[in-house]
Amino acid sequence: MTYTHVAVLIHWLTAITIIALLGVGKFMVSLDEADTLRFTLTQSHKTFGILVLALSVLRVAWRLSHKAPPHPANAPTWEKRAASLSHLAFYGLIFFLPLSGWAMVSVSSLNIDTLLFNQIEVPHLPLMEWLNITDRATQDAWEHRFHQAHNVSGGILIALIVLHISAALKHHYIDKDDVLTRMKPRYKEPAFIAWVVGSLLVAAGSAFALNQYSQSQQPVLVAGNSSVSLLAVVSGEDTEIQLPESQIDANIQLDDPTASALSASVTTGSATSDNFQVAGSLPDAEWFDSANFPTATFEASAFAAGPEPGSLSVDGVLTIKGQPHDVSFVLAVTEATADSPARARTTFPVDRFELGLGEQSQPNTDYVDSTVLIRVEFELSADG
Ligand code: HEM
Repeated sequence: MTYTHVAVLIHWLTAITIIALLGVGKFMVSLDEADTLRFTLTQSHKTFGILVLALSVLRVAWRLSHKAPPHPANAPTWEKRAASLSHLAFYGLIFFLPLSGWAMVSVSSLNIDTLLFNQIEVPHLPLMEWLNITDRATQDAWEHRFHQAHNVSGGILIALIVLHISAALKHHYIDKDDVLTRMKPRYKEPAFIAWVVGSLLVAAGSAFALNQYSQSQQPVLVAGNSSVSLLAVVSGEDTEIQLPESQIDANIQLDDPTASALSASVTTGSATSDNFQVAGSLPDAEWFDSANFPTATFEASAFAAGPEPGSLSVDGVLTIKGQPHDVSFVLAVTEATADSPARARTTFPVDRFELGLGEQSQPNTDYVDSTVLIRVEFELSADG
């Protein structure tokens, strides 16, 4: 008796994806948090991790409806038991790893969406309600727990994969039984080829349908070149602070504001100013504390039609020095002309004391005003 073509296909698809996820997972967490490659890899990691979860559901459904071949008759009982136990552990881990990863991102205060292939949003698990998380410290503690669980189970999975491969090779080269060969893809059999081609067609068809769906759902304008700066009043003079390393992701839909999306990430260590004294202080612990908080982020949570035509009212969370702050502003969108693309702009005030900026060296407004203006501008282009 051998494995069915579908079981073989799911086995190898899962195996390759999981090994890649383990490698990429370890590599991406070794990168600096401000490194955009870390962000990009994490987004792909989440996509393929969710695919593993989907494959695992298919696998269990298939396994429940199709018998697996028995252990080799001449294998000792301990070996059969060990094999059954390790297979059971694999079944647990192929669910536990993706679910713990999904749980981690669902409670994270960074609140970054999981977008399958950057297109389809996978909603966060409703853990904030289930775990009754109401404050930031509890949220961080849960994120840490899920991360630990994800990391430790990843380690167990690596050990198990090593054991699994060694056992398969032992069966093949020492015991010389059919344990490895019965899981080998039977390339030449028409039924196998039909399953592969069929699966590819279904995958391509689903990708096309999802892409069409997401395009129909998606806002029209996406962000391009951006600039982020702050305007502070220092010794009575307007002083601009530029933040040249910024990344804005936006989908702006003026016709249907609630379908819009906007998030931004700024590298605090890139902050600079023509005022040398200001420029020198910006990375310090009591200002941006760039060493401990290399990025400041903004994540929009709600949109509504703005006060003027072509504008949106945006609510969201500005996270600076790891602390979230609710902010609201109006985003004005100007249409493209023959020689310039459409642009979105906003300028809104924040209170530096509320953001925990310069409270020690500038505890009053004698030298640096409490109000700081945040200015954001980015180009927009039609999506797709
Ligand atoms: C079988 C599937 C998966 C495997 C084998 C896997 C494996 C890993 C590994 C080994 C790491 C590095 C952990 C560390 O050293 O700290 C990692 C990190 C991570 N995983 Fe997964 N993962 C899977 C699925 C998922 C899913 C479905 C998600 C979310 C939807 C996810 C989200 C994350 C995130 C956000 C990190 C990085 C955390 C950080 O930046 O500190 N993973 N994963």
